[in-house]
Amino acid sequence: MKYQQINDNNRSFIEKNPELTTPFVVIDTDEVVCNWQRLKQAFSYAQCFYSLKANPANEILLTLKAQGSYFDVASIYEIEQCIALGIPGKYLHYGNTIKKYSDIQTAFKYGVQSFIFDSQMELDKLAKAAPNAKVYARMATTGQGAAWSLSEKFGGDIDSVFNLLIAAKKQGLQPWGISFHVGSQQLLAEAWKKSIAEAAQIRARLQTEGIKLHALNIGGGFPAAYQNNTPDIEVFSQTIKAALLSHGMMDLQIILEPGRYIVASAGILQSEVILVRHNEKSIHPHWVYLDVGVYNGLTESCAIILQVITHKDDCSPMMDTVLAGPTCDSVDIIAKGHTFQLPNSLTYGDRVFMLNAGAYTTSYSTVNFNGFPPLKQYFVGQYAKYK
Ligand SMILES: Cc1ncc(COP(=O)(O)O)c(C=O)c1O
Repeated sequence: MKYQQINDNNRSFIEKNPELTTPFVVIDTDEVVCNWQRLKQAFSYAQCFYSLKANPANEILLTLKAQGSYFDVASIYEIEQCIALGIPGKYLHYGNTIKKYSDIQTAFKYGVQSFIFDSQMELDKLAKAAPNAKVYARMATTGQGAAWSLSEKFGGDIDSVFNLLIAAKKQGLQPWGISFHVGSQQLLAEAWKKSIAEAAQIRARLQTEGIKLHALNIGGGFPAAYQNNTPDIEVFSQTIKAALLSHGMMDLQIILEPGRYIVASAGILQSEVILVRHNEKSIHPHWVYLDVGVYNGLTESCAIILQVITHKDDCSPMMDTVLAGPTCDSVDIIAKGHTFQLPNSLTYGDRVFMLNAGAYTTSYSTVNFNGFPPLKQYFVGQYAKYK
């Protein structure tokens, strides 16, 4: 039974709450803890900062706070959310290279001590608004091997990162480390190797200038098991450790900013069929329209395809099906270009479930496009009491 693939806590919540209006995501906080523990065990040599952007729900932050997590934040809003939850500023790392001057000032007042930058102007702002802070210069990566590349917008090459860290020292900041992100849902453990080698080169050059780095931030990117052949987290930790050792980088403080890996598998998305239609204009004419789509949670479906299951999977013939969302917008086609194998008997009112939906779904949902509310979230498991 495919339906049995939904984990026990989430399935029990769904079965006990048939009246809840869809769409919504249920998050099992116990699974968040399991993912955290497995990551920490695999990367026993690193310090982990959960990246809020994957799913910033208070319940998740408090679950991870209880595990001893630090947090990677991208905006003053995330910082203020953490502070309101009793997470001290010194546990936060302002990991966005693009920050308003006033937001740096406020973050610094809250006690945030570490910041990422990749340009001279950002450095000027940091020097003025956060004197003597610990700063990390971000290196560019190619994004190769990642489903969701972060290559175009951020980071500099070896020379520019070197020059920026020299300038940081001159401007009264602490050139604390180098950071990079190899792209999200990165399936190639080797992707980290090249960046570690580059960071080692920069570190050696800085040493000759009398600058001693303290940390290497190797980002997030660790994949969720959307597909059966996804490598285990241990493959990543071992490959990365070998690269760090071979470049003599293990004496640095190694920092991770995982998002997706921690929360994706904890979430199940429940949706409802609104309409089934024969669309004669389409190469695949069988279309099923759901109450969830690109605008209320499935933005990533252009690159990351979630497994879809229904109660009818084991009793109806399956057929190529195009899935689309509920809005009056043609962009609102789920995983455009892809067809899902779904039962031919699906009809309005049937429930449809998407697995591994805990990351980048609720946090990507728009607010009231076509009047549809943002994707809701419920919590189960030990930490669900944080409401
Ligand atoms: C700076 C930074 N850190 C961490 C993350 C989290 O990445 P992931 O969810 O792939 O682990 C992201 C994702 O965009 C990011 O931009």
